[in-house]
Amino acid sequence: MPTRSGTAPGPAPSRPLDVLGVPGEINLDYAASAPCARAAADAVAELLPWYASVHRGAGALSRRCTLAYERARQTVGDFFGARADDHLIFTRNTTDALNLLARAVPAGTTVVTFAGEHHANLLPWPRGSVRLPVPTDPAGAVRALAAALTELRRDSNAALPVLVAVTGASNVTGERWPVAELARVAHRHGARIVLDAAQLAPHTPVDLLALDVDYLAVSGHKLYAPFGAGVLVGRADWLDAAPPYLAGGGATSHVGPATHDVTWATGPARHEGGTPNLLGAVALAAVCAALAGADRAALAASEQALLTRLRNGIAALRHVVELRTFGPDTPRVGIVSFVVAGRDSAEVAARLAADHRIGVRDGLFCAHPLARRLLTEAAGRTGRRDLPPTALRASIGLGSTSAQVDRLLAALATLG
Ligand SMILES: Cc1ncc(COP(=O)(O)O)c(C=O)c1O
Repeated sequence: MPTRSGTAPGPAPSRPLDVLGVPGEINLDYAASAPCARAAADAVAELLPWYASVHRGAGALSRRCTLAYERARQTVGDFFGARADDHLIFTRNTTDALNLLARAVPAGTTVVTFAGEHHANLLPWPRGSVRLPVPTDPAGAVRALAAALTELRRDSNAALPVLVAVTGASNVTGERWPVAELARVAHRHGARIVLDAAQLAPHTPVDLLALDVDYLAVSGHKLYAPFGAGVLVGRADWLDAAPPYLAGGGATSHVGPATHDVTWATGPARHEGGTPNLLGAVALAAVCAALAGADRAALAASEQALLTRLRNGIAALRHVVELRTFGPDTPRVGIVSFVVAGRDSAEVAARLAADHRIGVRDGLFCAHPLARRLLTEAAGRTGRRDLPPTALRASIGLGSTSAQVDRLLAALATLG
């Protein structure tokens, strides 16, 4: 319709936290990789004409790229509440960040995790690590950690380091873990703690200082910033003392003629050997800046309303069973896993895609020990013998709508 001035109204201006997508395709798989935020796409598009080397060139383009990369480091560090003396290392993703930390822990470190972790936070840790059973509620996690650390300190050399590695929110159930309480327990026993914030950070502010965690790992691609950057941020001492994660250019301060005549850099450069991922870092920083300026409480409230709609809808379908570790009212982020009784989960996912243009995830979600346990628990809770051996997962975030949730529920209803 023409406006009063006679010009047709243009499309609504895009906002930094709008997400890109394809009309008609319903993406309910944010927990795997979230869609790209406008802020990330714009930041990359703006920088691309200037694209050149980072830390390696004297030209104007290269200097601008170096500045953009280091500004990104500052922005991302500020966003996650990094302490002034922490290092922030750009990595490929959370898996890469946790593997880096696993290589940096001092010799003799015992790492304590729970069996409910994603494989990225189960598999990198050195031999001798302790894997605690999945607790039945968040308070149980705190008690189990306190007991394990007490025992560990009694049985082993108290001078040896201990690192607790926990997730902030489960990638299977979305349930939140009591990170601040676990950090308190860890520190009371002289241990450090690393937070796998891959699933927490996209949904709620995560502040290293406020939670009092020593290290934090995240993935840009789950935080609306594709282009392949992740982050490890935390205490400098272990990182500066460790062998470089990737030996090569950029990680050194001096290389002499003899084979092993190398002085490694300290600081983030030590573990960022090779040409860094400038666009990934800039995209991630752009999303962090946009989120920092947004009303996160309002975003979380609308996500929670959608999540409630989805969970209530699932609960109303007698043939669909939700998976959960803790009680049904445990705080959680926008992730729900479930099974359709009597139906193979891969087949259901394929039908949702083919017949309804809905994208969800199926399988055991790279958390095999937890997913298998929850499938067994669901069978016990419901008394059903026809639950499949793998599950489905729907996950939401910025840009998700009640119409999309309702389309999923309607599609699931047809499978009864
Ligand atoms: C809780 C959690 N930790 C770690 C990861 C690993 O993330 P990435 O694949 O980006 O390395 C994931 C991925 O799904 C996750 O959900």
